[in-house]
Amino acid sequence: MSKILVLPGDGIGPEIVAEAVKVLEAAQQKFGLEIELDQALVGGAAVDAENDPLPESTLTKARAADAILFGSIGGPKWDAIERDKRPERGLLRLRSALGLFANLRPAILFPQLADASSLKPEVVSGLDILIVRELTGGIYFGQPRGIKEENGERVGFNTYVYTESEMRRIARVAFELAMQRDKRVLSVDKANVLEVTELWKEVVTEEAKAYPEIELSHMYVDNAAMQLVRAPKQFDVIVTGNLFGDILSDEAAMLTGSIGMLPSASLDENRKGLYEPCHGSAPDIAGQGIANPLATIMSLAMLMRYSLQRGDVADAIEKAVEAVLDQGLRTADIYTEGTRKVGTEEMGSAVARALAGA
Ligand code: NAD
Ligand code: IPM
Ligand code: MN
Repeated sequence: MSKILVLPGDGIGPEIVAEAVKVLEAAQQKFGLEIELDQALVGGAAVDAENDPLPESTLTKARAADAILFGSIGGPKWDAIERDKRPERGLLRLRSALGLFANLRPAILFPQLADASSLKPEVVSGLDILIVRELTGGIYFGQPRGIKEENGERVGFNTYVYTESEMRRIARVAFELAMQRDKRVLSVDKANVLEVTELWKEVVTEEAKAYPEIELSHMYVDNAAMQLVRAPKQFDVIVTGNLFGDILSDEAAMLTGSIGMLPSASLDENRKGLYEPCHGSAPDIAGQGIANPLATIMSLAMLMRYSLQRGDVADAIEKAVEAVLDQGLRTADIYTEGTRKVGTEEMGSAVARALAGA
């Protein structure tokens, strides 16, 4: 029996998670999976109910689960409250408390969506990049941090810090994953300016010695951002720190047609994980039933692959997504002429049906 905790969150979170749960139920039926599903509050929904974006009861359930399926958190309603109570802090605390240091963000272009990308089809066709983002360190968590008064004005400050062991373990994850792919790793840094990434570059290079088959290269983050839209197919695995990884993965999402297509896995040392789309709560379209649920559905596929060791179920879910794209179904964000525009529910149901029938 595997325990999966569902954390829908805010904005479009509950809408897209409901579709992933539909697909999960279809997978349960088809593969006879023994899964115990539970739900809890996180983010703004938890602030409203319990004045805490990560209530103790949610954290306890998260610790007990084999895997977590997460929607999205945040929104204008909670933007003005004190920082510790903000929905985003709930997600950050959850990642940190569970030790989810390795964030895998695969940017894959389905051939059916070559026209949906804002880049020319020939630039993106066949794209298959894996961004490995360090998730529990760097400037997101460094101390000291805050806003203070100094010399009669306010000063905002954060600390960009990585220990050697934090850098080594994320480098190893990237190398291990690259060994199963094209064996090329790009480490992204700002070693020309920031000491912390100068050390990052050194440590990643040292770790690479244990992987003689891997071709390791380095790039400054500004150039990497440019190269991602100039010639993205030059990349296989990209490993980088928390902040750079956050930015580069949203950029990479657009290569695949939409941010609504980018899933993610956040893993600890033992591959226990939290699975969520890379996008946020999309307040501008929340409640309209038009959000793309595919990133969340493909996050569920990653959950099957990494935490439940059911690569066969993951493959079947991904094939079902492809089948639905083949049928010409598109949510608004990936719609192109000649295809059929559908809403969140219709897209989710179509994937569940394709999975059941496959
Ligand atoms: P966002 O990702 O929520 O939205 C950016 C744009 O992409 C919007 O135009 C939105 O409509 C669109 N979009 C996002 N997901 C989509 C989907 N599935 N289908 C179709 N279109 C989609 O980013 P934002 O607007 O900068 O942030 C909104 C809120 O979400 C903020 O509170 C932010 O902190 C939070 N956020 C949460 C997460 C998370 O839960 N992991 C991630 C990013 C942002
Ligand atoms: C993401 C989000 C989060 C991050 C925020 C909501 C804390 O942007 O998951 O990419 O910056 O990590
Ligand atoms: Mn982000």
